[in-house]
Amino acid sequence: MPAKSFKRTLITSALPYANGPVHIGHLAGAYLPADLYVRYLRLQGRDVVYVCGSDEYGVAIVMRAMAEGITPQEVVDHYHPIIRDSFDGVGISFDNYSRTSREIHTDTSQDFFRRLSERDEFVLKRDEQLYDPEAGVFLADRFVRGTCPLCGYEDAYGDQCEQCGSSLSPSEIKNPRSTLTDAVPELRPTTHWYLPLGDWQARLEDYIKSHREWKPNVLGQIRAWFTDGLRDRAITRDVLWGVPVPQEIADAVGVEAKGKVIYVWFDAPIGYISSTREWAAKQGDSERWRLYWQDDESRLIHFIGKDNIVFHTLMFPAMLMAYGKYVVPDQVPANEFLNIEGSKLSTSRGWAVWLHEYLEDFPPDLLRYVLASTLPEAKDSAFSWREFQTRVNSELADILGNFVNRALTFAKREFGNCVPPLVDPSATDTEVIEQLSIFPERISASYERFRFREAVHQTMGVARLGNKYFNDQAPWATRKTDRVQCANTVHVSLQICAALSVLMEPVLPFSAAKLRSMLRLEGVRSSLPGSSDAAGIGWAEAGSCLLSAGHVLGRKEILFSKVSDAAIQRQIEKLESANVSQGPPYAEAKPTISYDDFAKLDFRMGLIISAERVLKSDKLLRLQVDLGYEQRQILAGVAEHFEPEELVGRSVVAVANLAPKKMMGLESQGMLLMAEDREGHLALISSESEPGAIVC
Ligand code: 2FM
Ligand code: ZN
Repeated sequence: MPAKSFKRTLITSALPYANGPVHIGHLAGAYLPADLYVRYLRLQGRDVVYVCGSDEYGVAIVMRAMAEGITPQEVVDHYHPIIRDSFDGVGISFDNYSRTSREIHTDTSQDFFRRLSERDEFVLKRDEQLYDPEAGVFLADRFVRGTCPLCGYEDAYGDQCEQCGSSLSPSEIKNPRSTLTDAVPELRPTTHWYLPLGDWQARLEDYIKSHREWKPNVLGQIRAWFTDGLRDRAITRDVLWGVPVPQEIADAVGVEAKGKVIYVWFDAPIGYISSTREWAAKQGDSERWRLYWQDDESRLIHFIGKDNIVFHTLMFPAMLMAYGKYVVPDQVPANEFLNIEGSKLSTSRGWAVWLHEYLEDFPPDLLRYVLASTLPEAKDSAFSWREFQTRVNSELADILGNFVNRALTFAKREFGNCVPPLVDPSATDTEVIEQLSIFPERISASYERFRFREAVHQTMGVARLGNKYFNDQAPWATRKTDRVQCANTVHVSLQICAALSVLMEPVLPFSAAKLRSMLRLEGVRSSLPGSSDAAGIGWAEAGSCLLSAGHVLGRKEILFSKVSDAAIQRQIEKLESANVSQGPPYAEAKPTISYDDFAKLDFRMGLIISAERVLKSDKLLRLQVDLGYEQRQILAGVAEHFEPEELVGRSVVAVANLAPKKMMGLESQGMLLMAEDREGHLALISSESEPGAIVC
């Protein structure tokens, strides 16, 4: 439970870019956890609204349009329905799913821009930016590629170097080229609006201090940003796709408004507000959104992936505070990333499981269950098709499904498909009923603390309790020897099934509904939108005996069918063929060099004696390497492959005579050699030789 008690909750999931379909990594990061939580809150009868929508602006969409030779509008019109339908298919129960290209979003974003401008919250800066003389446009962010000024990587993006992870601005890039025309860009003056985030640092630090309960992965990133110092952030761009900067604001400062748009990371979180406004209008009360955004008794929670932390914990809160009136996020339970079959998910390499494709082959609940059981809550986690099969077959089918099937089979065969009475219950019967009554609160404690994996495990505990009880009571034996005891066993087992049909609803909503229909259990509160205040059996009641003696049950069905080896093999092959079809796995050999060139290189064995992360870089680790004759500081771009502690004590091959280079303000005095396989896995090259040994 939050420290403060709130009257209502507004939940958001990161707006997905409408430049491609959504995959299971998206689902595990920001959508499934939110949906589990929202459905749980609705069953608790709490007042909750869950909003999202497609993020339809930004350079990524323009680039996709260019790649496909269509307009940005056509790109988003194509992907928006695919994304919306995939979410729907997997049961993500938004109260509203909007689009940022809608008028209500332009209106809300421009209102923000105007108000912050009126309150003098922006600074205007005129400086030189790269301009493509052939295309006649300024080159924002990813429209520029060139050499990273920090690590020398030759194909860095204008806003970020994928090699060393540094965030860059296009004008810092060396040997820049336009990605539009390949022309060499020239510098031209242009004016932009900036949000001086540095001025907000003290207030943001106070705000974050009041949220010590946030997840350590979230607080860790925020601390690194504070240590580095927050800086001005440009919140406009010179592109033709985005929310236009309001004309009168540009006019007032003598800036040409045409072609100036609001930066996508300024407008996207405002998308949560416009989606809530749209929802309110659909409810027939256009002002109702204010209750969720502008009332102190409302709790705002953002579900996101780890790459969005800074925007939701620092930038958006600063925007909300700058506007005034708005509540700020009370929780931001960001998840880490989901890897697939041991490799980092990569949409460009086709290494992904797309939701719309998954839904053609399997029921949604299976994926919900498997992902919810393995969510990357504290660190990156892994999805594998074999584990999918194991969890479905040996947990959903063998434990949950099997228990339900046995209870219903006995009820039908022995008691005319009715709930038999409970007469003189044994100590075991009473104890199991007692244990059942504790589950709602126990599972609830996990949901309230955003520990969803734990919540799933606790929920399965109800099925395990049922299975064990059923086995121990052996009704197949008592049906002949003690009819009363047999009836009691079936009675209690059916009560456990009924409890399960409510408690499993957040994780397995489709199967829970099926189970309720098998039990003919009516009057259970829905976990779908618009039903939070409805009366009926809710979470709190789920642990009590919900079925009365004599109640006529429904028709039994199979709750979970097992997944075959062949079905899994097809998925693995599909994944692998998509990956291979992306072109040759390894780069061609480099041109031949002379022996003299080779002999200039001094390779040495080294021993890693310490390793730590480099602030603000997702990629770099700072290593101290013992080369025998001296110790070196080496920065290696391997943070996504190794935890610092796994490297300490390992032997490595180092290039010992490479000129020092500065990266992220630190000097790297050498380089480590590694082997990188076609899937991007890195392995150290080690030997048993002592540090300093010459590798020749
Ligand atoms: O990273 C992304 O996919 C962004 N489209 C997330 C936006 S979240 C929010 F601010 F809308
Ligand atoms: Zn770099």
